Amino acid sequence: MPANWEMQGFDVPIYVNHPYEFADARTPITEFKKGPEPPAVPREYNPVGSYRREFTVPADWKNKETFIYLGSVKSAFYIWINGKQVGYSEGSKLPAEFNITNYLEFGKSNTIALEVYRWSDASYLECQDFWRMSGIERSVYIYAQQKLRIRDFEVVSTLDDLYRDGIFELYADLKNHTSSALEAELEYSILDGNSILTKASKRVSLNAGSEITTDFKASLPAIKPWSSEFPNLYTLLITLKDGNGNELESTTQSIGFRRVEIKRGLLLVNGMDITLKGVNMQEHNPNTGHVLDEETMMADILLMKQFNINAVRTSHYPQPERWYELCDQYGIYLVDEGNIESHGMYYGEKSLAKKPEWEKMHVDRLVRTVQRDKNHASVIIWSMGNEAGNGVNFYAGYKAMKAADRSKRPVQYERVEIGSRFALDFDWNSDIIVPQYPDPRTFEWFGEHLLDRPFIPSEYCHSMGNSTGNFQDYWDVINKYPQLQGGFIWDWVDQGLWKTDEKGNRFYAYGGDYGVNMPSDGNFMINGIIWADRTPQPALYEVKKAHEWVKFKALSLKQDRIRILVENLYDFTNLRDLQITAVIKADGLVVQKLDVPTFELEPHLGKVLQLSVSGLEIKPDTEYFLHFEVLTNSVAGVIPAGHAVATEQIRLPWFKASAVPEVENAKLSMEQTAGQVKLFNSDVQAVFDPKTGYLISFVFKGTEYLENKQGPRPDFWRAVTDNDFGNNMPGNNINWKKVTLQNKLKSFDAKQLRADSYEIKAVWDLPEAGTSFATVYMISGNGKIHLKNRLEASATEKSDIPRIGMVLCLKSEFENMSWFGRGPWENYVDRNVSSFVDLFRSKVADQMIPYVRPQENGNKTDVRWIALSNAKGQGLMAVSDAREKGFETTAMPYLTSDFDARTGTDYGPVHKEQKHTTDVKKQNLVRWNIDYAQRGLGSVDSWYSKPLDKYMLKPNKAYEYGFTLVPFDAISEVKDLVELSKK
Ligand code: GAL
Ligand code: MG
Repeated sequence: MPANWEMQGFDVPIYVNHPYEFADARTPITEFKKGPEPPAVPREYNPVGSYRREFTVPADWKNKETFIYLGSVKSAFYIWINGKQVGYSEGSKLPAEFNITNYLEFGKSNTIALEVYRWSDASYLECQDFWRMSGIERSVYIYAQQKLRIRDFEVVSTLDDLYRDGIFELYADLKNHTSSALEAELEYSILDGNSILTKASKRVSLNAGSEITTDFKASLPAIKPWSSEFPNLYTLLITLKDGNGNELESTTQSIGFRRVEIKRGLLLVNGMDITLKGVNMQEHNPNTGHVLDEETMMADILLMKQFNINAVRTSHYPQPERWYELCDQYGIYLVDEGNIESHGMYYGEKSLAKKPEWEKMHVDRLVRTVQRDKNHASVIIWSMGNEAGNGVNFYAGYKAMKAADRSKRPVQYERVEIGSRFALDFDWNSDIIVPQYPDPRTFEWFGEHLLDRPFIPSEYCHSMGNSTGNFQDYWDVINKYPQLQGGFIWDWVDQGLWKTDEKGNRFYAYGGDYGVNMPSDGNFMINGIIWADRTPQPALYEVKKAHEWVKFKALSLKQDRIRILVENLYDFTNLRDLQITAVIKADGLVVQKLDVPTFELEPHLGKVLQLSVSGLEIKPDTEYFLHFEVLTNSVAGVIPAGHAVATEQIRLPWFKASAVPEVENAKLSMEQTAGQVKLFNSDVQAVFDPKTGYLISFVFKGTEYLENKQGPRPDFWRAVTDNDFGNNMPGNNINWKKVTLQNKLKSFDAKQLRADSYEIKAVWDLPEAGTSFATVYMISGNGKIHLKNRLEASATEKSDIPRIGMVLCLKSEFENMSWFGRGPWENYVDRNVSSFVDLFRSKVADQMIPYVRPQENGNKTDVRWIALSNAKGQGLMAVSDAREKGFETTAMPYLTSDFDARTGTDYGPVHKEQKHTTDVKKQNLVRWNIDYAQRGLGSVDSWYSKPLDKYMLKPNKAYEYGFTLVPFDAISEVKDLVELSKK
């Protein structure tokens, strides 16, 4: 304990998105075949966890008040001590506390018993899109206080109107549990480390059995304010003494001084219009389900801070208390969300938001959220919940949250749209406009129209599977308009659970992997930008890049002098506290370090940097890039010294191509039979099949390169991603798979060009797509094969082309991969701003990204050349014709079909198969795609939207691209590959 019992082998976890899992027509045992009937709960199948244990209480607690604290019990429970019922509680993501003094035997053994219900009427407000599990999810403990005690206290710690001096208020609720009047003294001090900044005390009298509130006010000159960038904390120490000055109890609280307000339609922290670079975070651990330990929380903090994430929406319920302490300490802004979602009732007439008999349940959860978390500096906004409609209960909730919070933090709620969001009409009970899933154009719409409230979507960029495309596009818009103050990615961490198959292999399980015929929404909760074990996915790097607080914009790029505009997007950091480095790289190697002075630059301002380049000789056929890094000077929390908070790459327009010399190569002969066309000399042999138009054998210096005769062939398909499923690529775009699996050779011609070269032209008809694809091969006596490809515009096909390219298979021995292009991590046309063009070396086997539900992965864009080689340094290089742009490429020991949901063209009515990483088996080959491009990944959502227009390949135009396959042997140094790419 704590534990979800479903994770301990009792009962099963269920994953559904909108519906109530206990009232879902798909549930075999449901008693609610016609849907939910609030507040009725299942009687037949409603698992109950019965807990019981003995514990002793010290004898000297007899004269004290003893309480039991239960951090989180889902969904509802009764509690007994020594056989006597103490009470009942619900509201599972908040603590329940009971005064158990009168039930205990002191100095003796006591029995506690809990009866926990999987489903209760409370479940109607807990319809969140996550694993539906139950049990005691957070710590349980008992504690004792004196008969005269501090029951609670509230701190207001803000700044004055000049945002300079700290304003401090303390409200302490003191309670007298005795039957006589008592005198007391309450004392507090505020400490900065060990030094006392201020202190005060007050004497009070309490009537028998009464509770009073004592308050203090102080002003602290020139306080160090709290922000995510500078999470300055102070210690508040409170001591309660009896009338004679004897200490009764002391307690401490970390406090931060920061002022949150909405002014001029902007969200201000300490007077600054901040930007929330946020993620939504569910409570999830792949081993324990909803039970989190501190190690996991610290891993989250570390990744967030190091990857430029400064805000978390605690979707969709309060997180464990420790999380808030860590956010105070390390600097994460929190939108603290109440535990309310009644999605399964939807938003119309039936919505529980509109039913007054549900008001108390709504308000109770919201007020308890404020009561628990009010003293945290990190909490800058309250959220009333998620997808629970809008109505009287949220009007009441809004007022109740404001009334409960003396700091009067902003309150937000995501369901306040009235009609279409483009009508710009929002109900009053949200201080911030926080809708879900705007695309970049919608962000722009809100930027273009001034409103009375800031715009900070509670959810955007649906990062399901291989997604998080067009992330920079959102930020280009956000950075442009003052009222666009960020947003929260959906979401932070994949909700996969570790499971082991019959063969002992571990995989991440998702919805549908537990129980028989249980309702499931599949992998709809695998939406993270990190894996469940808290390691980064490629998407996280893109998030870090687009979130960067320092931007570099090229003004002029002369060969002796470079002018760059540096923008400081930090809200509180002066750039003088960071160090900027700049280097020029050629072919992936640093050729000059440039001097960048340290300079003052206040937040939200820019400055032009002049950089001089001296004596650099510009070589032909060489690309030059300017690289910036912005580094920290010293350790700050979990960010080490020397950590790059921002990086940039700027291409220098200095490229000049050298004239290609005419060379004569070894002679080439041709041998034509009915079954094959063979071109050969002593070193080289290339064999084509004139019936298919494909290259079926390629031998260089005695080594066959092709696996199973699979030379390059046209390829228009990719393994369907979750977003592709969302916009029905398997339906709309299926013609492109049909013509990938089967084309018709229309013509095949071979002719000699010179003594040392031949040209072969193959044209394939792609009937279902109403177009054709042609390849012109030019084979030279030195073994080089140049391919020029052209896809004609289609007159009939309306759907965009998932991929335009060629795929071939090499023998598995070609396992080393070097490339000059974007990397090192996987990248796509709409997710490649973080992967710079550079020189990389890796293994073919390391290119596969194990998305939890297998799908397209491992692509690289803007690749100028790529070389695959074996242990002897023999291999094949592909060099793009477009020297300054390149092609897209994927090389890995897996076929596209290994990741696809179907091998054929029928994806059925139920599209996805219940596939996992363990279903993908490594093959004895290297699948190599050399592509013009693929469609982008998209991210706007995973249920409707396509990638942005500019990231799609429209079928009504022709595409042309070319590359040269260059065989080589005995090359071990990457610099020799660089040279080879230029020949
Ligand atoms: C949102 C919802 C989230 C999640 C997401 C889809 O509408 O608030 O809880 O369901 O869609 O992954
Ligand atoms: Mg929902």
